Amino acid sequence: MQEVYEFLKKSGVFYLATVDGDKPRVRPFGALNIFEDKLYLQTGKVKAVSKQIEVNPNVEVCAFSEGKWIRVSGTLVRDDRREAKESMLDANPELKGMYSADDDNTEVLYFDKAKATFSSFTEPPRTIEF
Ligand SMILES: Cc1cc2nc3c(=O)[nH]c(=O)nc-3n(C[C@H](O)[C@H](O)[C@H](O)COP(=O)(O)O)c2cc1C
Repeated sequence: MQEVYEFLKKSGVFYLATVDGDKPRVRPFGALNIFEDKLYLQTGKVKAVSKQIEVNPNVEVCAFSEGKWIRVSGTLVRDDRREAKESMLDANPELKGMYSADDDNTEVLYFDKAKATFSSFTEPPRTIEF
């Protein structure tokens, strides 16, 4: 999982796909954190992405860096604990202008039953689960 975190961090931007009814939706994301040995994303409850995850928590993330790409699929589990939100904001202080651990909007979610596949044009794919 640490390797997945580091790859996504290095990529800077990763693309989060959700399911909206029978349509895929994808958008750039960047906020990441490891808390209690789980990989977390952050969003706002007001966003469509949040509402899609609430209805269907199956997601996939894709990112590309230095000739390699990664796909991470799994389900996202919302963590409403203040300490989980605080940890995310401390790890991504640029979010503090828009979000706080005590607002009604900030949402953090961790990957459950995740499968990450690293791929490149030169090496066979490698999959890890966490
Ligand atoms: C580089 C970059 C990183 C972003 N990171 C996040 C993020 O970590 N969390 C988030 O909620 N929105 C992030 N955004 C904004 C979302 O992409 C944007 O709000 C998007 O419209 C949300 O998807 P939705 O419209 O389906 O709700 C980021 C945007 C950019 C350009």
